[in-house]
Amino acid sequence: MSITDDTFKELMKRFASGVTLITFENEGKYSGLTVSSFCSLSMNPPLILICIDKKIPSHKLLKNGTNFGVNICTSEQGKLAWDFANSNVDKNELILSLNHRITDDKVPLLNDCLASMECTIKETYEGGDHTIFVGQIGNGHFDEKSDPLIYYKSGLGDFKPN
Ligand SMILES: Cc1cc2nc3c(=O)[nH]c(=O)nc-3n(C[C@H](O)[C@H](O)[C@H](O)COP(=O)(O)O)c2cc1C
Repeated sequence: MSITDDTFKELMKRFASGVTLITFENEGKYSGLTVSSFCSLSMNPPLILICIDKKIPSHKLLKNGTNFGVNICTSEQGKLAWDFANSNVDKNELILSLNHRITDDKVPLLNDCLASMECTIKETYEGGDHTIFVGQIGNGHFDEKSDPLIYYKSGLGDFKPN
């Protein structure tokens, strides 16, 4: 027994998540994409995972790379999240236009996010039409004051605590 693609989407869109911007360098150019499949994996060692669609250009770039940055969006960064999810936007120009810094491993990290961390790719696993990238966090910083951006039912919005 199997469900339809539409049912799969209806089930998944009912799971609210945070939003991250994955940033990386490839052959002298910066690139990135919006990712909600970010997840904490292990504390010792400090591992996270992201799941990346095999069909998108970023997949090949990440597969060829060794490092990436995870930048967790604030509630103010909705437009930025849509821009990073748009293949027609020049991500190199976009990253250079933002307040950022470049790590020793050439990873661009965005300064105005809720949290940013640099990761080294430790493993990749097959996950159907996606690849699971396991990254080990080398360094990170966070902002105490900002609120998170939330992805729910295909929309981006604010978190409302009880
Ligand atoms: C809120 C949101 C979450 C997303 N999460 C993922 C994700 O977890 N994995 C993924 O492969 N694509 C995800 N995407 C889609 C990519 O951001 C999109 O395909 C992007 O255009 C890929 O960049 P590229 O075309 O430069 O490779 C998400 C998009 C949005 C708007």
